[in-house]
Amino acid sequence: MLLAGLLASFGAAVAPSRSLQSERVHVMSRLIIEGNHRLNGVVNIHGAKNSALPVLAATLLARGKSEIHNCPMLTDVAASVRILRYLGCSVSRSNGCITVDSIGLNRSDIPDNLMREMRSSIVFLGAIAARTGEAHISFPGGCELGTRPIDLHLSALRQLGMEILEERGRLECRVPGRLKGTTIALSFPSVGATENILLASVTAEGTTSILNAAREPEITDLCNYLTRCGARIAGAGESAITIEGVDALYGCSHTVIPDRIETATYMAAAAITGGSLVLNNICPEHIATVIPTFEEAGCRIDCKKNELLIKAPQRLQRIRSIRTMPYPGFPTDAQAPTMAMMCVADGTSVFVENIFESRFKHASELMRLGAKIKIEGRVAIVEGVPRLSGAQVKCTDLRGGAALVIAGLAAEGTTEVLELHHIDRGYDNFEQNLRNTGAVIQRLD
Ligand code: EPZ
Repeated sequence: MLLAGLLASFGAAVAPSRSLQSERVHVMSRLIIEGNHRLNGVVNIHGAKNSALPVLAATLLARGKSEIHNCPMLTDVAASVRILRYLGCSVSRSNGCITVDSIGLNRSDIPDNLMREMRSSIVFLGAIAARTGEAHISFPGGCELGTRPIDLHLSALRQLGMEILEERGRLECRVPGRLKGTTIALSFPSVGATENILLASVTAEGTTSILNAAREPEITDLCNYLTRCGARIAGAGESAITIEGVDALYGCSHTVIPDRIETATYMAAAAITGGSLVLNNICPEHIATVIPTFEEAGCRIDCKKNELLIKAPQRLQRIRSIRTMPYPGFPTDAQAPTMAMMCVADGTSVFVENIFESRFKHASELMRLGAKIKIEGRVAIVEGVPRLSGAQVKCTDLRGGAALVIAGLAAEGTTEVLELHHIDRGYDNFEQNLRNTGAVIQRLD
């Protein structure tokens, strides 16, 4: 059903009624999980959502066709495609490859309903303004993880010469002449702000330097795509990035990197069920700080070139403390799945969430399954229990939703997971992959 909904949305022009229709399908969907089955087998990891989204926005800057390979089938990716089509681009999809031809780009606005579909809609701002000299958008949607301001994006774009008027929830942006390179020092290495600066500056006049830039692999992937299109970027993946503006970019072929958060999610699923999984098409370097956490919990991990084997112990051990940090620190996106797994570990684990102000919403749902969790501000204390027991739970956000599914895999009896539209934003083929490796899980619409 999800696949049908996504295919429908890839084939559709912008049609609010259709997106409403597919949303209704998601709201009614639920996962039924019979817990206590070990996972065993092979999972192929998809392309990274958080790479595919900014790269798709970046295709606006490239004249001619870009072929983006290894794009996951997700509702957020479908939302990006809807935005590109609304702007006049022609977009087609064949298996995992999305081809974008931006030659027909003929508008510079994004309607509110499309902006609200995901957080990543904000990175279209830099690309649209750089290409057309103006942009008219509203504030983005996305997971509710706290206030999630966009002040760093706007301040950086203003420094590049963009005039931005904030009026009744809309952002009216104009570029007098051409954007001009400058030095931008970010007060926090924001992923989205770094992406917006990159998109706005690759065709700006002169040199732009980003200090305290985000170093996430998804930033490097975006830089690699832009460089292939003709951009001149030095320092991708480091804290200081230098961009020398060029006159134009030209479409190219690019393959999205493996999804490190999807990888960590399946590792947690294997670990909590006492199972063993081989994860294919991964990048070990991108999960280098996640692996020791699983090893501390007692899992055996073997990494080859682009393959990871995880074998869980009889009973997981507690992890002393997990502090989420910007890359290369422990990723905030892996916090919820790891917390699910620590709910049944031997001992007490402590989680400190340093990136988002409100990213423990899944904890109260995990407690419905019998988890013992105490939240104090940005700290969660998880006292492992011998077993969880099935109940009805609701996804609160994307990674929190995945955490509930993971917990359900290990719970005794039946777990029913509602509000699946959150999960469908970020996990391609989730329940099929779990079912193929031994989970008893079914989606009901
Ligand atoms: C990206 O979000 C990811 N999303 C998130 O993944 C991820 O959790 C996050 O980076 C951190 O790694 C996408 O790539 C689409 P930020 P983003 O700007 O860009 C504050 C997932 O589950 N901030 O680095 O929104 C902000 O409030 C998602 O896949 C400002 O204060 O993250 C937050 O506390 C969820 N002002 C912190 O910085 C700003 O202008 C990090 O945000 C921008 C951000």
